[in-house]
Amino acid sequence: MLTNTAMALSLLNKVLATLLFALLLLKPTSSSHHHHHHHPHHGLKSTHFALFQHETINKTGYIIVNGVAGPGVSQTTTPFGTLFAFQDPMTVTPKRSSKLVGIAEGTTITSSLDGLQSISIAKITLSLKHHKGSVSIVGGTHNIKPSDHPVVGGTGDFLFVQGYVTSSPVSLKGLTVVYKIEFHLYWPPYASQTSLS
Ligand SMILES: *[C@@H]1O[C@H](CO)[C@@H](O)[C@H](O)[C@H]1NC(C)=O
Repeated sequence: MLTNTAMALSLLNKVLATLLFALLLLKPTSSSHHHHHHHPHHGLKSTHFALFQHETINKTGYIIVNGVAGPGVSQTTTPFGTLFAFQDPMTVTPKRSSKLVGIAEGTTITSSLDGLQSISIAKITLSLKHHKGSVSIVGGTHNIKPSDHPVVGGTGDFLFVQGYVTSSPVSLKGLTVVYKIEFHLYWPPYASQTSLS
């Protein structure tokens, strides 16, 4: 009798363990079923795309406070401490006349003594086919090299979004400088309720 009960309990344990295992295996698949941009490796909804930011000195971007040291103002440098503010259009190709789908509003403060790097804060408002809202970024920008900016959050369809935005110079000649902005955005599991509605 005792042996039978022990055997039954052991069998029950095995059944429960198998069920639990099956549930663990099934869960990521079933919860990501309705996601548009399902990433196969970690089950998170994500989206990846690139836009082009156009910044025209004294038109879409202005020096608000002059810097104090280092090289002078050029397409690639600003004196250390320069406070700059911008509201730049973002288009789908490097051509300014291509479709406008975003606006980058923000500020930079020149943070390296060689005048090439700054701390950037920006809110990027996006009107894409499938997603509308804003993404907020903060981080270091290098004026002549690609730099990654962590995404700190978003609004609208980008509520709770995480990831990073890479900016790389495309054209640094003339009054308008162009940067390629690559977005790598990931929605955490708890954002799916709101961002998919
Ligand atoms: C932008 O405006 C500032 C202040 O008026 C001026 O000193 C500077 O030369 C202008 N820059 C260009 C490229 O027009």
